Amino acid sequence: MFTHIPTRRHILAGLTAAALPPVTAGAAHADAGPSLKALAAEKGILFGSALSAGTMEAAYLDILKTECGVIVPENEFKVYVIAAQADRYNFAPGDAIAGFARDNGMKLRGHTLLWNKVEFMPKWLLNIDFGRKPALGAERYLRDYIKRVCTHYGDQVFSWDVVNETIDPKTGEIRDTPFTKALGFDCIRIAFEAAREYAPRAQLVYNDYMSWEAGNETHRKGVQKLLEMLRNKNVPIDGFGIQSHIGNDGHIKEAQHSEWRAFVDAAVDMKYRLLITEFDVNDKDLPTDIAARDAGVAAAAKDYLDLMFSYKELDQFLCWGMTDNHSWLQGWTPRADKTPQRPTPYGADYRPKPLREAIAAALRAAPKR
Ligand code: XIL
Repeated sequence: MFTHIPTRRHILAGLTAAALPPVTAGAAHADAGPSLKALAAEKGILFGSALSAGTMEAAYLDILKTECGVIVPENEFKVYVIAAQADRYNFAPGDAIAGFARDNGMKLRGHTLLWNKVEFMPKWLLNIDFGRKPALGAERYLRDYIKRVCTHYGDQVFSWDVVNETIDPKTGEIRDTPFTKALGFDCIRIAFEAAREYAPRAQLVYNDYMSWEAGNETHRKGVQKLLEMLRNKNVPIDGFGIQSHIGNDGHIKEAQHSEWRAFVDAAVDMKYRLLITEFDVNDKDLPTDIAARDAGVAAAAKDYLDLMFSYKELDQFLCWGMTDNHSWLQGWTPRADKTPQRPTPYGADYRPKPLREAIAAALRAAPKR
């Protein structure tokens, strides 16, 4: 029910791409020099992208094969896909993505074991009865779910977003879900402990979308408090995934550099590894004109990535899709002028855009880690 439903614009964007003469990814960036994964690897960074089962068409996969060293399933490892029905587990869509990564020698990230947000839980789970002792019942369910998902994918998933988006940006507190009702903060601890037990060699990550623009202050504060709590309670966690959906629904010009640095510094001081897990640039408040817009997107990206790559603790960088026609933002936060967003490194024609150049330039400028 929550799976990605393509909008009319999505479909049109897809058709436009399909109708154009095929451009191979190799040809598309032959002039641009080395692939993004090669540029990243020179600096000790693993570069990649999200991929969804619905967009596994040849030309798109060619771009991923050329540019990416790591893949993360966009939706297929989420509970609303795997456990859409209470009585059966559906690994087929996730297996398709895992198979693509394996066949092409790419690493695989896992996203996500506990998306602790009611909007992204299947209805049956929202109404679940954890029994006479809800804390015990909830713990049993959560541990069993994590066990089944982690053991299904085994060591292929080298890094897991164990818990996703559990902080409410409006209050800075942990969101209310069936799990927090039964267990409070303990559901977060249990999720990480179960992940450590059933994916013992994987990197374990907390992932969230607090961004560097104004308006994110409460969200950042809440996430920082959570990161502190996880450390204070000795919860097994290795990394902090900064989603990096920058532009933040039309606030691209409100970046707060020093506040953001202080926030990232705090995570580093607490000995978290850093990851950019879902990078894209929302261009809602940039002009309709394509050249001006692409320049604005590229400039915001370079500014952000320069700052982020200055942290040597950051060694993974994933985009949330590689071509504009396959970006979730088209349906999620459409522009007022109704033209498609341009948030990813490649256009709907599968040709590289200034954003790809900006990413390459930021990687070239990044210090080695
Ligand atoms: C999004 C997907 O891109 C969409 O296709 C889906 O409909 C909803 O989820 N933060 C996350 C990701 O952690 O899982 C979200 O992905 C984007 C925001």
